[in-house]
Amino acid sequence: KTEEPLKVMISGAPASGKGTQCELIKKKYGLVHIAAGDLLRAEIASGTEKGKVAKEYMEKGMLVPDEIVVMMVKERLLQPDAQENGWLLDGYPRSFSQAKALEDLGIRPDIFILLEVSEEDLVERVVGRRLDPVTGKIYHLKYSPPENEEIAARLTQRFDDTEEKVKLRLQTHHQNVEAVLSTYEDIIVRVNGSVAKEDVFAEIDKVLSSVIEKKPNSSASM
Ligand code: AP5
Repeated sequence: KTEEPLKVMISGAPASGKGTQCELIKKKYGLVHIAAGDLLRAEIASGTEKGKVAKEYMEKGMLVPDEIVVMMVKERLLQPDAQENGWLLDGYPRSFSQAKALEDLGIRPDIFILLEVSEEDLVERVVGRRLDPVTGKIYHLKYSPPENEEIAARLTQRFDDTEEKVKLRLQTHHQNVEAVLSTYEDIIVRVNGSVAKEDVFAEIDKVLSSVIEKKPNSSASM
């Protein structure tokens, strides 16, 4: 393949819809979805020492230390599937030092999508979120209810999805977001994340199509 693959970062407050949009983007564009939070939860599930430390921070809604997160994401990004098909980085970087670590490696996205959702909506989304442990699909009791009884019966909730914990996660987000945004100032696109998920995706889809058209080597410009 001679085309340069697409590289996308997606950011936004806790429960702004990053994971939901990533499912849709992945389906249409075939990018490799790399979610820092998912990598950390996999580490916790496998019971490693790193996972134990990570969980302590996640339970307090704090950022997991760079010693754990930076290597984990970097290794995943550099794997051949992500290099060949392009990547969609979700929930990373979340601090100035994480952004700098990527810049130092010469890793920069084509576009940085920022999902904007009001704080009130965020809390409602967190409290109603459920996950299907079998398919990994994200549901919401009100906005994206499970398709049938069988799925409904097996849905689980994340340990940090309580009203009390999301307040802490939001605080952490506010403390760090500006430093990250300043690194990507020239490529940020703000998307209204408060509308229905299909409408949010329609907006993102437009943005990504135009990035692909403008990319050097893309089939559109050949
Ligand atoms: P992480 O797992 O990344 O969580 P988060 O940023 O809090 O984001 P979420 O996964 O909660 O939400 P989302 O934006 O993906 O929303 P979703 O699509 O699910 O991080 C967890 C923790 O790990 C952090 O607190 C930190 O401790 C640690 N961590 C992670 N990355 C780190 C890093 N880089 N460095 C250090 N530590 C790190 O949607 C939410 C709900 O809303 C769902 O129920 C969904 O169905 C519903 N919904 C989605 N879109 C819509 C819509 N348009 N309308 C109505 N409902 C919708």
